[in-house]
Amino acid sequence: MRIGVLTSGGDCPGLNAVIRSVVHRAVADHGDEVIGFHDGWRGLLDCDYRPLDLDAVNGILARGGTILGSSRVQPAHLRGGVEQARGHVKDLGLDAIIPIGGEGTLKAAHLLSEAGLPIVGVPKTIDNDIASTDVTFGFDTAVGVATEALDRLKTTAESHQRVLIVEVMGRHTGWIALHSGMAAGAHAIVVPERPFDIDELTELVGKRFSAGKKFAIVVVAEGAKPREGSMEFNVGKTDQYGHERFAGVASQLAIELEERLGKEARPVILGHVQRGGTPTAYDRVLATRFGWHAVEAAHRGEFGMMTALRGTNIEMVPLASAVEELKTVPAARYGEAECVL
Ligand code: F6P
Repeated sequence: MRIGVLTSGGDCPGLNAVIRSVVHRAVADHGDEVIGFHDGWRGLLDCDYRPLDLDAVNGILARGGTILGSSRVQPAHLRGGVEQARGHVKDLGLDAIIPIGGEGTLKAAHLLSEAGLPIVGVPKTIDNDIASTDVTFGFDTAVGVATEALDRLKTTAESHQRVLIVEVMGRHTGWIALHSGMAAGAHAIVVPERPFDIDELTELVGKRFSAGKKFAIVVVAEGAKPREGSMEFNVGKTDQYGHERFAGVASQLAIELEERLGKEARPVILGHVQRGGTPTAYDRVLATRFGWHAVEAAHRGEFGMMTALRGTNIEMVPLASAVEELKTVPAARYGEAECVL
């Protein structure tokens, strides 16, 4: 069999572990040939690739980022490139393509699969917002980085009697905010799924100071917004890929909370540090299992499917259902994190 692999969208710790696993399983166990497209879908559309043998993936298991590079592609560009992609797949004699990516990548994978290309998807994202899989790799690493940052910020916030508003990634969903906030014992957690009321948030943090506490930590997901009409709020512009460029919820909250509470409030934006560096052991294992199962699915001819973690098993699920909607934080899960001040 000849397999093409690519990584697309925002990078994420564990991508290299999937690439390595695909090559190990395909080349060493099945005697397949594997090629890696450069910079995601761009590589497939431009036929820009390199062969991946066992040597090429030597030593990459623990390495962050992706050795293949990544990029975002506008959906319209990809739709217009279906025939080009089909041509390259035919010319290269590919029997399967394994795209590794998040929401946008998997939607593109579904599109190409519907057009008849032999696709087996692998979900990734630190945001953990892909439906049909219990967890995506990268999430555990991001939560670990955010938790460590929160632990560190607590001690400096306490020394200076400050309110620190810590912005974590999470475009549409608050999984990183919820998990890191719970793990670090944050005093308030703000997620996109639940528009915040600035009065309620002020009261919550204020109660802590009234109770004699000298500092507070608020974790906020970058995509969080206030309840309509509750506060003036700048939203960012939309980029060429249709993604909102956020205007800085933590900075806006810091201004409001400082004014309302009369306490010094500072924003801390963790940003891409959450996506960089070596994956945790959990993410390495999940990524490795996804790669192994993707190759097996390709050999069974199970195209139009995606690897998914269900409980402790890896199962194949239709790409169509995986891209239908995002996996958001359910109200009950948020309720479990009710902050004790
Ligand atoms: O991969 C998902 C994500 O990390 C989001 O949480 C974040 O909003 C986005 O990527 C940032 O993407 P970029 O690096 O393209 O700005």
